[in-house]
Amino acid sequence: MKEKLNSIRQSALEQINQRDTDNAKLEEIRVKYLGKKGELTAVLRGMGQLAPEERPVIGQTANEVREDIEKAIAEKKQSLAAAALELKLKDEKLDVTVPGKKSKIGHIHPLTLVQRELEDVFIGMGFSIAEGPEVEYDYYNFQALNIPENHPARDTQDTFYITDDKILLRSQTSSVQARVMEKQKPPIRIISPGRVYRSDAMDATHSPLFHQMEGLAVDEGITMGDLKGMLETFAKTEFGEDTKIRFRPHHFPFTEPSAEVDISCFMCGGKGCRLCKGEGWIEILGAGMVHPNVLSMCGIDPEKYSGFAFGMGLERIAMLKYHIDDIRMFYENDVRFIEQF
Ligand code: DAH
Repeated sequence: MKEKLNSIRQSALEQINQRDTDNAKLEEIRVKYLGKKGELTAVLRGMGQLAPEERPVIGQTANEVREDIEKAIAEKKQSLAAAALELKLKDEKLDVTVPGKKSKIGHIHPLTLVQRELEDVFIGMGFSIAEGPEVEYDYYNFQALNIPENHPARDTQDTFYITDDKILLRSQTSSVQARVMEKQKPPIRIISPGRVYRSDAMDATHSPLFHQMEGLAVDEGITMGDLKGMLETFAKTEFGEDTKIRFRPHHFPFTEPSAEVDISCFMCGGKGCRLCKGEGWIEILGAGMVHPNVLSMCGIDPEKYSGFAFGMGLERIAMLKYHIDDIRMFYENDVRFIEQF
């Protein structure tokens, strides 16, 4: 019986200490030898048949065998746990000295920069911001601005029509003028930045979508002198203290008189250079005194009130300021371009 016990011990320890023994296998081994129906238990059950003097000796050996097996299982379990931990540590190794990854955050688009700058300048002069829809009625985009159906001025502002010929994508932010004057009575001082659309083919200076900023002031006794003074302040703030402005006669259906406004070239100071194409002057906006027809159509008495208006392209201002020679750059969203501003 003693040999039997020794051979149980030997084969149990052998199995326990095999390299590929894992936790599941350990449990199998425990059940096989120490479980209720296990081999060692079977031997202990047979003790009754032994001679009385043999019982304590065999009993002691059986206990030793049990203890040895239990101890071997516990040790193996511990070494399995240690190996697992080792593996996990290796796997999850973290080198705290490796430089961190910088997450890239966005950058303000040059058009947004210019828009905010202009807003600041005009808000500083008492204007507030008014917004209008990009999907607009023909009425506000054209008719209320003294451009009736079939007026030739529509040719230069051909746009995209939504449903029929009554709803379109606005071709100018001037549409906001009519909306504001309809609702609000003088004194009015607003600027209106936003997207406008024209059915132009894309090239270095044209885009079917671009941005404008409109300005409007209506009150009693407003003159062209007010317009000039205000634009001069704007030009000096935006392009530098030495900047001069120049009015050239022009025609817009919604202003009378109308002018195109130039600034003296801020690169060469007016001597003539690449930026101003040798002219010394750069055109930046259109302006004029609000046409009496426009005031009347919006329910404002032209005998009592007068006003000035102006409109400029934000892309044009940004291109001049930042020396960008292709309008397409604004819309391509190449971070290498955008990051420069
Ligand atoms: N809306 C004109 C355009 O898109 C720009 C403009 C010119 C606006 C003169 C005005 C203005 O308010 O008085 O070409």
